Amino acid sequence: TFTGCSKSEDVIVMGTNATFPPFEEIQGNEIVGFDVDISKIIAEKLGKTLKVEDMEFNQLLGAVASGKVDFVAAGMTVDEERAKQVDFSDNYFASKQVIIVKEDNDNIVEAEDLVDKKVGVQLGTTGDIFVSGYTSEENGGTIEVIQFDKGALAVAELSLGKIDAVVLDEEPAKKIVANYEGVKIIEAPFINENYALAVKKGNTELLEDINEILAEIQADGTYDALCEKYFGK
Ligand code: ARG
Repeated sequence: TFTGCSKSEDVIVMGTNATFPPFEEIQGNEIVGFDVDISKIIAEKLGKTLKVEDMEFNQLLGAVASGKVDFVAAGMTVDEERAKQVDFSDNYFASKQVIIVKEDNDNIVEAEDLVDKKVGVQLGTTGDIFVSGYTSEENGGTIEVIQFDKGALAVAELSLGKIDAVVLDEEPAKKIVANYEGVKIIEAPFINENYALAVKKGNTELLEDINEILAEIQADGTYDALCEKYFGK
């Protein structure tokens, strides 16, 4: 049988949603970022070629569960519900959710102030889950949640004054806010989270390899160099 002219190579497929700078974003025709670099290192150490599959964020869990991708690297927060569908690696990044508002907005200073407001999120993210979970009984009102495909679209709407706030992960928020006029990140302490890579449930072989590689790059300074490259810290 003919298999085409390229030699068959051992490929490992990473799934992501490239709307999340500096973890993954599209630059030119390329998907680049912190998660992509980590994934390349994983592939290399496993002797494989990395293939990156870009898809909607809320398709990632299904893609890894069905075997369409081997693992997910998408700034994905470890969460109990998700852990029913996939197995998470060790944490590789500590993050938190932040609130973004218009620069002249002094009324929203903490999460409770989001009640009765229009709040933009990226569909299916922990920010979405958090604000969508606000109930009248517990919080004295609900939040009108507007779901976007990308965090940047939510910030664009905020900048135009069409919504009141956006809830997003901290590092992407910093990158995205820098591209829009008249918006700021509120410094109120908010939900803390941890990112991990995800594999298909029961794929302990890959999970153990990934955890070993994460430990290696932390021990040998590679991880710190990536932090410097992408976060300047
Ligand atoms: N950390 C958040 C979550 O897990 C947002 C992740 C969004 N990632 C992305 N690549 N768009 O829900």
